[in-house]
Amino acid sequence: MAVRSPVINVMAAAALKAARGLIRDFGEVEQLQVSIKGPGDFVSAADLKAERTLKAELARARPGYGLLFEEGGATEGTDKRHRWIVDPLDGTTNFLHGIPHFAISIGLERDGEMAAAVVYEPTRDELYWAEKGAGAYLNDRRLRVSARRQLSEAVIGTGMPFRDRGDQAAYSAMLASVMAGTSGVRRFGAAALDLAYVAAGRLDGFWEFGLSPWDIAAGMLLVREAGGYVSDLAGGHAMMASGDVLAANDHLHLPLAALLREASRAPGPR
Ligand code: IPD
Ligand code: CA
Ligand code: CA
Repeated sequence: MAVRSPVINVMAAAALKAARGLIRDFGEVEQLQVSIKGPGDFVSAADLKAERTLKAELARARPGYGLLFEEGGATEGTDKRHRWIVDPLDGTTNFLHGIPHFAISIGLERDGEMAAAVVYEPTRDELYWAEKGAGAYLNDRRLRVSARRQLSEAVIGTGMPFRDRGDQAAYSAMLASVMAGTSGVRRFGAAALDLAYVAAGRLDGFWEFGLSPWDIAAGMLLVREAGGYVSDLAGGHAMMASGDVLAANDHLHLPLAALLREASRAPGPR
């Protein structure tokens, strides 16, 4: 039986409380799809409301901790060792379109390293959590990354650059290589959950560029505590600074990194 520490209980309780609001609002969004005005403003309000709930709950339980929230930005705490890194709604585009795949992501950083993580998927009531050195869990079940050793058998998650974001030509070359070399590629639209799915062995790997700290803080710890490996594309550890993430089990990390690097170097169609 998985024993949750006090800090995991604080994070889980905050996530569950904010999730109740998100679920109510998601029901409303489904109705708003067919209205002329659309659900845009309503979703921004839902996002901010979830953030307010999380901030209040986390600050009440651990008053001195610093904060990095997607909407509210950074707030220094009196406790300089600890910082919450929070995305109140990861998968906003899904939420906006009535697609039931979104999450709340809460990471706790201690002395500059991820110490605890909660990613909660409200529509499935799936609580992913991890604590440094204590393993990763889905509800009460211990998580392990997948055991697949062949890229040709792997299913890989990704995030595609959209609108004016990222180097789309380089990304397309990488996507083409991964499509050709694996069992399939998935773009689910919530990076925190993509990483949680790698931790759970559902995806064999995941890569995306240009993410923000709140997208990946919790998910990276989930992957590591489930026995997986996370790096940036160069194989270094500047994920929080660059927002570039490559996560996979130990067998597939190196070959996947090599495939992506080669593809980005090869001259693509112009
Ligand atoms: C987004 C999601 C998406 C990823 C984007 C993120 P948001 O976060 O994680 O999967 O591709 O880069 O910005 O905006 O839904 O919180
Ligand atoms: Ca996000
Ligand atoms: Ca968000």
